[in-house]
Amino acid sequence: MQKITIAIDGFSSCGKSTLAKALAQRLNYSYVDTGAMYRAVTLFALQNGLIDKDQKLDEEGLINSLDKIELSFIFDAHTKSSQTFLNGVNVDRDIRSMEVSGLVSMVSSIKKVREKMIALQRQMGKKKGVVMDGRDIGTNVFPKADLKIFMTADNDVRAQRRLDEYTSKGQYFTKEEVKRKLMKRDHDDSTRKENPLTQAEDAIVLDNSDISREDQLEFVLKLIDDLHLLMKEQEKEKERQRHH
Ligand code: DC
Repeated sequence: MQKITIAIDGFSSCGKSTLAKALAQRLNYSYVDTGAMYRAVTLFALQNGLIDKDQKLDEEGLINSLDKIELSFIFDAHTKSSQTFLNGVNVDRDIRSMEVSGLVSMVSSIKKVREKMIALQRQMGKKKGVVMDGRDIGTNVFPKADLKIFMTADNDVRAQRRLDEYTSKGQYFTKEEVKRKLMKRDHDDSTRKENPLTQAEDAIVLDNSDISREDQLEFVLKLIDDLHLLMKEQEKEKERQRHH
């Protein structure tokens, strides 16, 4: 079957990565978590004293250091997940901390940072057969993606999901605190100048507030089946026209 490019965008904690990973596994595609890339750059800035105690970022310093940031993603067959490496060190846990979450929108709004990440993302998706999740995949990274999904969910549901994630990692916060930060991040991501989070016109909206993971997966697999049928029809039509 012809390999396609699948773009999944949406607000934070909407279950984008859960769906994207399940799809990639089912289709035997690669999965690219673009949020992890911006998070890793944020961690680099923190580790290298480029963000001070008042959360002020040395933007020029970070731009000048971009060449020193090497990102890689290694699939761990045991945990069946992709791990993020920053300059050879596995940072998958550190990039999901509340501290990084609070600073990542600021870092991801920098034009030069985005240019570097987007170039990497386009490189990773060049051969198709990829599921990529983020904020601007269907609008900017792959505007011609074969399938675009825009995910959304009720704010309370999202806050609870994020809270559960933190708790399972031994990080304790109140739901109100998590919700407030989530809302701020969504606002910052949607209103920034460079490639803000917006819904692509041709994206299919998936509100998963009340839909199980299995049903979400089935819903998208059905869309993919339909798309493949359509592609076959289009191929046949082209063949017919060639013979006329
Ligand atoms: O999906 P996430 O929560 O891990 O993403 C972290 C941040 O990275 C998010 O707040 C905005 C930014 N981001 C982005 O600007 N563009 C993307 N394609 C993916 C994430």
